[in-house]
Amino acid sequence: MQAKQFPTDFLWGGATAANQFEGGWQDGGRGPATSDTAVAIDPKDRKTALDFTAPMSKEKVLAALNDAEGRYPKRWGSDFYHRYKEDIALYAEMGLKTFRLSIAWSRIFPNGDDAAPNEAGLQFYDAVFDELRKYNIEPLVTLSHYETPIGIALNYGGWQNRAVIDLFVKYAKTVITRYQDKVKYWLTFNEINVIGVSGYVGGALLSDDDAYTLQDRFQAAHHQFVASSLVTQFAHELNPDLKIGMMLARMQAYPATPNPLDVLQALKLDHENLFYSDVQVRGKYPAYAKRFFAENGINLQMAPSDEAILAANPVDFMSFSYYMSTVARHEPGANVEKTSGNFVNGEANPYLESSDWGWQIDSVGLRITLNYLYDRYQVPLFVVENGLGALDTVTADGQIHDEYRIDYVKQHIQQMYEAIQDGVELLGYTTWGITDLVSAGTSEFSKRYGFVYVDMDDQGQGTFDRRRKDSFYWYQHVIATRGAAAFD
Ligand code: BG6
Repeated sequence: MQAKQFPTDFLWGGATAANQFEGGWQDGGRGPATSDTAVAIDPKDRKTALDFTAPMSKEKVLAALNDAEGRYPKRWGSDFYHRYKEDIALYAEMGLKTFRLSIAWSRIFPNGDDAAPNEAGLQFYDAVFDELRKYNIEPLVTLSHYETPIGIALNYGGWQNRAVIDLFVKYAKTVITRYQDKVKYWLTFNEINVIGVSGYVGGALLSDDDAYTLQDRFQAAHHQFVASSLVTQFAHELNPDLKIGMMLARMQAYPATPNPLDVLQALKLDHENLFYSDVQVRGKYPAYAKRFFAENGINLQMAPSDEAILAANPVDFMSFSYYMSTVARHEPGANVEKTSGNFVNGEANPYLESSDWGWQIDSVGLRITLNYLYDRYQVPLFVVENGLGALDTVTADGQIHDEYRIDYVKQHIQQMYEAIQDGVELLGYTTWGITDLVSAGTSEFSKRYGFVYVDMDDQGQGTFDRRRKDSFYWYQHVIATRGAAAFD
C-alpha cells in the first residue's frame, strides 16, 4: 500500500510568541508590554480559567509595573532572547521547515509611538532570522501576539483609538521593509477574535471594571482590520512575493441536539467566530454583523476610505489555532456538564476526552473545520497552533516520556492528511509551544506543550536548560517521512 504522505512543500513546524517565550523584557532597549503585567497565580483548580480575560485599569497596570514582589513569568518566558541559537539548532535537528515566532512590538518601538525604531531590537531579529536561514528554516512571523507596548494602553487607551492604526502601520512597515528578504510569511494579529473576550489582551483596552462595551470592542476590531489591510497593501506593493495571513482562534461549534434551535445557536456561535475572518478574507463586513450592530446599538466610526481599503486588501491566506470544539445549546441546560477551554468555558461533549485543563480533545473536529473554512473561503489555510498542554515528569535518568502528547499530535496530523485528501489547500502545521513556554491563559509554566523541555517551574525556579522529550524524536521521524510515521 502506498504510504500516506504530505506534499513535499508542506511546512512542518513549531510555534511560539515573544510574550511567552522570548523573555529579556528589559534587555536591548525593549519597552514594557501588556503581557508584562500578567501576574502568576497559583492555580487551585486547573479546570478553572484564571484571569486572562479580566479587565485592566490604568492603576492596575501601573501597580503591576512597579510591583517588586509579584511573579510575572511572561517577562522572562523561556529566555529565547539569550538562547535562540541553541533553540534554532534543536529545530534544525528536528527537521523543522518553518518556525513561527512573533516580533515584540515594544522591542522595536519601546513606547509604541517613538519617532525612530530601536536599532538593538531590529538587530536581535536580524540575528534570529539569519540563524533560521542558516538551517533553511522559513520564519513565519506574527506582528502582534498579545504584546502591545504599554504606552499604547496608557497613553492612547488601546485600539479603540484610531491613532493606533498609524502607530501599528509604522511599526509593521519598519519590520517588513527591514526583513523582506528574510521573511516571506507574515501574520498581522494573533487570534484577532480575542478582542471579543479580552479587551486588554486583544486590544490594550483599559477599564476599571468589566465595562469594555461592545462598541469599544468592535471599534477596536475595526481599527485592527483597517491596520491589517494597510499592512497587506504595503507588503504587496513592496514585494509581491510576500504572503500576509490573518489568524483566528477557531471555535468549531456543534449543535447539542438536532433541535433546529440548537443548530441555529451553533450557526450564531459560528458567526461570532467567523465574523473576523469574513472581514479579513472577504474584505467586507458580513450582513449578519450589520444586523447584530443595529440590534445592539453599535455604531462603528469609519473613515470614508475604510471600506474601500478592506475590500482592496484581503489577506493571502487564513491561519488559525485549533485546540478543541465547542457545543451549542439554545437554552442553558440545567444538568449539562461544563468544561473549560481556550478563552471560553462551555458545555462538555460526552463523546470527547479532556486534557488536564479540561480542554476537550477533538481531532476529527480539525478535519471538519479545515473543510468548513476551505469551503467558505477557498484560500490556502495554515494550522499555526495546535497541541496538548500537559504536566510532564522528568524521570531519574533525565527522560520525558510524553506519549500522551505524541498521541494527541498524531491524531491531528492524521486528520489534516484526510482534509488534504478532501481537497483542502493546507500550507503547513506549526505545533504550539514547540519548546515549553509560559501559558497565555494562566501564566503557568507547568502547562507544557513542547517537544523540547525547559527546566523552569511555576515559582520561577530553574536553569532554562533544554532537554529533548520523546515527542522530539517522534516529530523528527514524522517530518523525515513526510507524515507517514504518524500512521504507524
Ligand atoms: C492560543 C494563543 O490561544 O492558545 C497562545 O495564541 C496560547 O498564545 C495558546 O499560549 C494556548 O493557550 P494556553 O492558555 O494553554 O497557553
